[in-house]
Amino acid sequence: MRLSTPAAGFDVDLDTVDLFDPWLYAGGDPHPIWAVMRRRAPVHRQELADGRHFWSVTRYHDSSEVLRDHQRFTSERGTLLCTLGHGDPAGGKMVTATDPPRHTELREPLNRALSMRAVNQHRPRLQQIARQILLPLLRDEPWDLAADLAAFPMMFTGMLMGIPDLDWPALTRLTTMAIAPDDPEFQEGNSRISLVTAHHGMFEYFSEQVFQRSRREPGPDLIDHLMTLTAGGRRMTHDEVVYNCYSLLLGANVTTPHAVAGLVLGFIEHPQEYRKLKQDPTLIGSAVEEGLRWASPANHFMRYAREDVELAGVRVPAGDALAVWIGSANRDSEVFEDPYRFDVARGGKRHLAFGFGPHTCVGAPLARISLRLILAEILELVEEFQLVGEIEHLCSNFIAGVKHMPVTATLRPGAADRLAGLVEAGPVLTGGGSAGGRA
Ligand code: HEM
Repeated sequence: MRLSTPAAGFDVDLDTVDLFDPWLYAGGDPHPIWAVMRRRAPVHRQELADGRHFWSVTRYHDSSEVLRDHQRFTSERGTLLCTLGHGDPAGGKMVTATDPPRHTELREPLNRALSMRAVNQHRPRLQQIARQILLPLLRDEPWDLAADLAAFPMMFTGMLMGIPDLDWPALTRLTTMAIAPDDPEFQEGNSRISLVTAHHGMFEYFSEQVFQRSRREPGPDLIDHLMTLTAGGRRMTHDEVVYNCYSLLLGANVTTPHAVAGLVLGFIEHPQEYRKLKQDPTLIGSAVEEGLRWASPANHFMRYAREDVELAGVRVPAGDALAVWIGSANRDSEVFEDPYRFDVARGGKRHLAFGFGPHTCVGAPLARISLRLILAEILELVEEFQLVGEIEHLCSNFIAGVKHMPVTATLRPGAADRLAGLVEAGPVLTGGGSAGGRA
C-alpha cells in the first residue's frame, strides 16, 4: 500500500469508494480517500455487491474507542473483513477473537511469555537474526529487500515457538496466503481456495505439533507453554492451543516485515531523516515508532456492535460490523501534527499500529525489540539505500504491505568486513531439530 501524501483539494464521491477491495491497496492509494472520509464521513457505511455491509471508522479517537470498548464492540464474531458476515469458528477460543473475561484468561499467560523482560533474554539470538537477514547487502547487486524480509519474523517466532527451521519457508508462505488470498503471487486456485488451503495447512501443522509434543516432556518453547499453561483454572483444549499457535504465528509473520520495508522506504524518500538518525542513533526507538505509524502494517481490525451505538454522530445498529482503518487513524491531524511528515524524531507510542485496549498487540515487545535491533544493524552497515526498481504492493485489505522493493546500498566503512565475518562464522540459526510437522 502506498504511503502517500494526498494532493491538496483532492475529493472523491464516497459512494464509489470500495475499501473492501484488496486491489485498492495493491494498485491504488487509500490515503487520499481516508483523508476525505475523516473530514466528511468519519463513520461511513459501505454495502458490498452481495448485500453485506460494514461501517468504516477512520478517525483516531473513534478508532481507539471501538478497539477499547469490548462491552459495546465484540471481537467474537471475527475481526477481519474477510470473515464479514460469516462469523469466526475461532470465536471464544483464539485470543484475538475472544472477549473478556475469557480473553483476559487466555491473554495473561501470553503476556508473561512475551513480555519485554522475557523477550530480552533472547536478545543475543535476535541480534544474530537481524544481522543474518541483512547478509544480501554484501552482494554487489540489487536486493529485493521486501521479499527477503518476509523470512525475518519466522526466524524469531519460529525460534521462540520451537518450530523446526525446515518448516519455516512453507509456514511463511501459508501465512501470507492467509492474509493476501487475492494476490496472484500467493494464490492457489482462487482466493477462496487459497484461504481454505492456508488455514487448513496451518491448523493441520499445529495440530500435528501438539499431538507429537503431547508424547514427550514439555520444553521451554511457546507451543509447550500454550499446552501446559492454566487459563481460567484449566488447561487449554487442543483446539484452543492450535488456534492460538496460528494467531501468534500470523500476528508476527504478516506484520513485522512491512514495518521494516516501510522504514527503509521512508529513509529512501526522506534521506534527511536517515542522516538525522545516523548522526543521532539514540533516536532509534523513536524512529521505530514513527516507522510503525508510517507503515501501519495492520491496516484494519473489525468489531461488531453488540447494541445500537452512536459514533461521531452516526447511529450504528446492533449487529453491524465496523472496520477500524488503522492506517487512517495514524494520519489523523487531530492527534499527529503534520501527519504526512515522516519524522524519525517524532517519537511517542500514541499511534494505533499495535491496536488499542484489551487486544493491543501481545507481540509488541518482541516486535519492538526486533525492529530496534534490525534498525541498529542497518545504521551500522548502510550509508544510504537506493531504490533501483518498481515497488510492488501486497494485494490485501488487511495488511498494508510491500512485497517487492529492489534496493542497492552504499555500505559504511568496515561494513563489508563485518558482514563477511558473519558469513565465515556460518549459519547461526536453527529452529531446533528435524521437521516434526508437515508444513
Ligand atoms: C510490527 C509488528 C506487529 C504489528 C503492526 C501488530 C499489530 C497488531 C494489532 C493492531 C493487534 C490488535 C488486534 C485487535 O485489536 O483485534 C495485534 C494483536 C495481536 N498480535 Fe500483533 N502485531 C505485530 C507483531 C506481532 C508479533 C511479533 C506477534 C507474536 C509474537 C503478534 C501477535 C499478536 C496476537 C496474538 C494478537 C492478539 C492479541 C489479543 O487479542 O489480545 N503480533 N497485533
